[in-house]
Amino acid sequence: MSSPWEAAADLVVVGTGVAGLTAALEASRRGLRVLVVTKAGARDGNTRWAQGGVAVVLPGEHDDGDSVRRHIDDTLVAGAGLCEADAVATVLADGPGAVTALRRVGARFDTLADGLLARTREGGHSAFRVVHAGGDATGAEVERTLLASARNRELTVLERQAAVRILRTPEGAAAGLVVLDDDGTFGILRAPAVLLATGGLGHLYQSTTNPDVATGDGIALALRAGATVADLEFVQFHPTVLYTGHDATGRRPLVTEAVRGEGAVLVDGAGAPVMAGVHPLGDLAPRDVVSAAIIRRLADAPGGVDDHVFLDATHLGGQMFQARFPTVYAACAAAGIDPATQPIPVAPAAHFGCGGVVTTVDGRTRVPGLYAAGEVARTGLHGANRLASNSLLEGLVVGARAARAALADHAAGVLADPRRAEVEDADASSSLSVAVAERPTLQRMMSRYAAIGRDADGLGVLADTLAEASTVRPVRTREDVENAALDLTARALVTAAQERLESRGCHVRHDYPVPDDLQWRRSLVVELDESGQVAPARVLALGGVA
Ligand code: SIN
Repeated sequence: MSSPWEAAADLVVVGTGVAGLTAALEASRRGLRVLVVTKAGARDGNTRWAQGGVAVVLPGEHDDGDSVRRHIDDTLVAGAGLCEADAVATVLADGPGAVTALRRVGARFDTLADGLLARTREGGHSAFRVVHAGGDATGAEVERTLLASARNRELTVLERQAAVRILRTPEGAAAGLVVLDDDGTFGILRAPAVLLATGGLGHLYQSTTNPDVATGDGIALALRAGATVADLEFVQFHPTVLYTGHDATGRRPLVTEAVRGEGAVLVDGAGAPVMAGVHPLGDLAPRDVVSAAIIRRLADAPGGVDDHVFLDATHLGGQMFQARFPTVYAACAAAGIDPATQPIPVAPAAHFGCGGVVTTVDGRTRVPGLYAAGEVARTGLHGANRLASNSLLEGLVVGARAARAALADHAAGVLADPRRAEVEDADASSSLSVAVAERPTLQRMMSRYAAIGRDADGLGVLADTLAEASTVRPVRTREDVENAALDLTARALVTAAQERLESRGCHVRHDYPVPDDLQWRRSLVVELDESGQVAPARVLALGGVA
């Protein structure tokens, strides 16, 4: 094994999605030396796959009566009592500025004949306020814009470098990052500030809308560095993911909620509407409500079709569908489905981790020098169920804020000297021995016992299986890094899910079917104990990062 190479920066950003690139660009513009690392290629993150859009209320471009205040209210309702109201207010208030800034550097959103932005509606929104690009390719346009800016600024992006662990000083402050490339060579990146923007955790499950990179890496890195995570039990399942057979696994094509925004209706195998009488917003109810209604309908099916329902968008006609939803149309065509004449078979699949590394709304964690932004972070914006299209917005807003927080912390002299990072010897970076579960077993058990519909028995079986299925061994490859991250993230999630004895938002328990505001209208924090094991969950102090 070759000895590790070394590099230094003021800020290391892990991830090339919307939050990571926004942070890196902001920090670079403000004079910090920035290194961006990603375990895959720069374009391989989750951002590219975002379809629906960015939820934002822009001055002069909104429905009558719509306002940032109403956007805040919709977010709080969707979050099922667990959002932090101050976090919601401050992040959404910065949304219009963030979108305007992105357009200024070249993002092209869809417009109407009068030149104003086209707006659609998604689940949980009381107004048409979701702006989009390329019809249903909003994430791709956001990513294109940010990567072009990164090229213009000559940002250094180190590709195919998996983040193994965060370097720390003897006092516990972040001081850099150990990375591992595809050839098994380790690198040491010394920096007083490290920003995690690693995205989500969809590959905890057999079927997900997330790309291969979404393996919970940032959650595991943060936990091992001494940070806390919260709200991890709230995994959002997107209701309409293209169904191509019960054995289809891995990343599955999304059928954006905006299709329902344009009038499509969910029906069961017998053609009966799924959402009739379930919620006042019908097919555009918040996502947790729609996914749970589908699962209930499937469970009640008298024989016949019992693992998918249908999204009927035939009213749109072929030309309109193809023009407005080119990505979905292509996925349907590849599966032999014509949305103009056939209802689209769909089923829920893992989509978004509403919880994550506990941060302030500026991306600070409780570990000095460690920041997080985007899906990996838990700012308090999403609560128990994220409002549709709030995530690109959060990535833009909190990504930029986290960069400014790192800059302010540099200026205030509160960050560590990265020369004091604990790197015991040349090969120390490879000596990280952690529990690594077999991925297929983990995904199968998580899908069975920790998806929509959980109970104490199933979660107990899952916890035992995770303990049995994992072995402690050194991390030598990217796959090891990912499997170890999945293992730790699953344990943390199951710990919180076992503890939360109620149903709320995306956490649906058969044995505790109703919300219990008195006991449980609070976030649960998970951290590691001194021996590196997941400690029992505890309640998060409001507004805190500890
Ligand atoms: C969608 O387009 O339905 C997904 C958008 C989101 O997850 O916010």
